[in-house]
Amino acid sequence: MNANTQFIQDLVTFPAKANAVPKTLYESAEIYQLELERLFYGPHWHPVAHTGEIRESGDYKTFYIGEVPILITRLADGGVGVFHNACAHRGTMLVPEVRGNAAEFQCPYHRWLYDNGGNLRGVPGDDDFPEDFCKADFGLRKIRFEIFAGLIFATLDDNAAPLSEQLGEIAEPLRESLGGDGRLKLLGYQKVMYNANWKTYRDQDGYHPPLLHAAFKLLNWQGGKGVCTVADNGLIALVSQLAAAKNSDFLKDPSLVEFRGVDPSKGSYVVCPSLISFGTKHLDMFNFRFGMPRGPFKTEVHWAYFCHEDDDEEMANHRLRQSSNLLGPSGLVSLEDAAVFSRIQNALKAGTENAYFLKGVRKDKDPYKSGQNDEIANIVWWEWYRKAMGFSRAAA
Ligand code: FES
Ligand SMILES: [Fe+2]
Repeated sequence: MNANTQFIQDLVTFPAKANAVPKTLYESAEIYQLELERLFYGPHWHPVAHTGEIRESGDYKTFYIGEVPILITRLADGGVGVFHNACAHRGTMLVPEVRGNAAEFQCPYHRWLYDNGGNLRGVPGDDDFPEDFCKADFGLRKIRFEIFAGLIFATLDDNAAPLSEQLGEIAEPLRESLGGDGRLKLLGYQKVMYNANWKTYRDQDGYHPPLLHAAFKLLNWQGGKGVCTVADNGLIALVSQLAAAKNSDFLKDPSLVEFRGVDPSKGSYVVCPSLISFGTKHLDMFNFRFGMPRGPFKTEVHWAYFCHEDDDEEMANHRLRQSSNLLGPSGLVSLEDAAVFSRIQNALKAGTENAYFLKGVRKDKDPYKSGQNDEIANIVWWEWYRKAMGFSRAAA
């Protein structure tokens, strides 16, 4: 461990009680740098795209792991490629667009040309390069990836254990949240920059929805008998019985909250399979939220909406209308989150030194299997975070 890491780890001591989290963690630039190194670039898998976003040969998407720009491509043979989004010459970001379709990518600086499999194809002036220059040595740097139910997970650490070990028992709820077989088709995105540290976004709990979100009350969505499962690595799956709205007549178009699914017992899902990304399946919506930190004070989230590949046009339109009206930064059931996240960030210096998790935190409750409206599962994640970051905890 280098001296700088030790210095950062000495900045924080967690309180003796596991449900208290020091607020310094949400605002320190030094801690954020250590998080990038240990968590985002460490032995973890990050969802970076769904195959439903790059369905045709040549489709591509760009994203970030921490602050590392990456490029995800659909190859001519149907396979997928994941690369560092940087030219192998002098490091110019190769693809600035968020998505598109291209068989080749040309770097603007000296016009090196790559195919979408990351191979270097064209180099102006290379007859005057060193004698041992070989194009094969200058392809785009590949990133290790695995695909689960269509979701493409990537890691920058070649020593990361297989993805199945990370997902553990949340694998099946994650699969269900992606429609069971993961054969999804992109409908569109809403993208938002939250004025908050990434862990504030990550901290979302089951306690707040019926209390903060006005539409939960209007639609009578609160009070389900869901089970929240959390693993030792902090990954969470909240599975609830689906309760369609009983009193939606005040809506001009009640079909907005109609459930047309074939099997109501499938319930509704909120699954967190990594540091800051969530899969959501409520009513007929398939949504995956790709999150990324943007420095210590900002978090960017891309809400991607999907339909199933087998949907007819009417069902696809229903899912699109439902997703884009209910979810996202201006969605009926998630509208208020951004305001609270930013108020947390703005008030970090006020009040108590710590933030507290209390709902469901009782001796007779199992933190690994808690209720739909508890926040005890968050404590398990925070303990994993504390250990992964190397912070100590005060003695009781
Ligand atoms: S930096 Fe890309 S071609 Fe020179
Ligand atoms: Fe919320």
